[in-house]
Amino acid sequence: MILVTGGAGFIGANFILDWLASSDEPVVNLDKLTYAGNLENLARLQNDPRHVFAQGDICDRALVDSLLATHQPRAIVHFAAESHVDRSIHCPGEFIRTNVEGTFTLLEAARAHWSALPADARTAFRFHHVSTDEVYGSLTPTAAPFDEAHLYAPNSPYSASKAASDHLARAWFHTYGLPVTTSNCSNNYGPFHFPEKLIPLIILNALAGKPLPIYGDGLQVRDWLYVGDHCAAIRRILTAGLPGETYNVGGWNEMTNLDIVGKVCALLDAARPRADGLSYSAQITHVTDRPGHDRRYAIDARKIERELGWRPAETFESGIAKTVRWYLEHAEWVKHVQSGAYRDWVSRQYGGRGEQTTRKEH
Ligand code: NAD
Ligand code: DAU
Repeated sequence: MILVTGGAGFIGANFILDWLASSDEPVVNLDKLTYAGNLENLARLQNDPRHVFAQGDICDRALVDSLLATHQPRAIVHFAAESHVDRSIHCPGEFIRTNVEGTFTLLEAARAHWSALPADARTAFRFHHVSTDEVYGSLTPTAAPFDEAHLYAPNSPYSASKAASDHLARAWFHTYGLPVTTSNCSNNYGPFHFPEKLIPLIILNALAGKPLPIYGDGLQVRDWLYVGDHCAAIRRILTAGLPGETYNVGGWNEMTNLDIVGKVCALLDAARPRADGLSYSAQITHVTDRPGHDRRYAIDARKIERELGWRPAETFESGIAKTVRWYLEHAEWVKHVQSGAYRDWVSRQYGGRGEQTTRKEH
């Protein structure tokens, strides 16, 4: 069994769905169900005994200890975080609590659990920490992409909190020998992406006839990776990654925000043309820039390719086409997210019905 934190969020849910599609090894999913946690993402697993859901906070040491003692996972895959840069600018406190204190709590609980294991199980145990390329800060237009030796230079409260969590993960390996691996990934996109982030926001605003907000000049550059490729990279690191190592994960796909929005609009123009015959790009509106906005991220993903044989399977063209189609075909999911009804999913699905095969423990 493995313990996944943040498995009701965007990447965590994709990870659990992909994991259980390719393996019968059960998953305990510890998630607080913040605004970003949506159990509807895992509706497909509702009657699947391989998924055990535990609602709770990664900062709750007693809860984490009890999950580790009960389920004896052979690995922890740590996704849970506050993940949205704009929210971190308005409300940094929760980012420090979850991303820094929460990671510290998990590392300490994992260390206690791991220390008591028999020798073979100690060697096999893994703590995989999921992090971001934003810890490296902003690149100039011609600078080489971030490799694993790049200096940390976080610029937002979000990236500073993730950088702090990376340092904790590193220290728990070097000081205590906890078998930690870390991945730093670029911008993900795909199904179940919460529509506060650029790509789903643009798709849904376009269809609703709303403005498509572009921060500043829209020439900021990000590297984009299809979420299924990120999940495959993490599975590969769990299998073959070396304790103490960091792996940068990216899509070899640098694009400006304006290019991204243009491609999304073109796909929507073809799939669901506007009634007036104009392109959705007519809805693009430049708005005030994000404070401290990083200009460019780019990932050098050669280490994970060379050492673990992972490369992204999707091109941006194939991944974005799948993503736009997914949003068009999942109107109900979109409706529940937009109305807030997804937050009632737990009580609707589990309320008063006793133990479920997809069990809710807390
Ligand atoms: P998300 O915001 O969609 O999901 C986060 C999940 O964590 C939610 O289900 C939420 O309920 C849960 N959570 C939050 N605080 C918690 C707490 N205190 N205790 C337990 N659960 C809690 O995030 P995401 O986009 O899926 O990102 C997952 C991880 O990947 C994060 O660590 C993020 O930093 C990292 N990452 C994300 C991207 C990206 O493009 N989205 C890229 C690189 C790295
Ligand atoms: O690089 C990895 C990071 O990617 C992850 O660590 C973060 O968790 C994830 O949220 C993402 O961060 P970004 O800030 O890059 O993602 P976001 O979708 O918020 O913004 C992408 C770019 O689009 C960024 O340059 C800001 C811009 N943007 C965003 C929004 C929401 C706009 O121009 N308009 C918008 O409305």
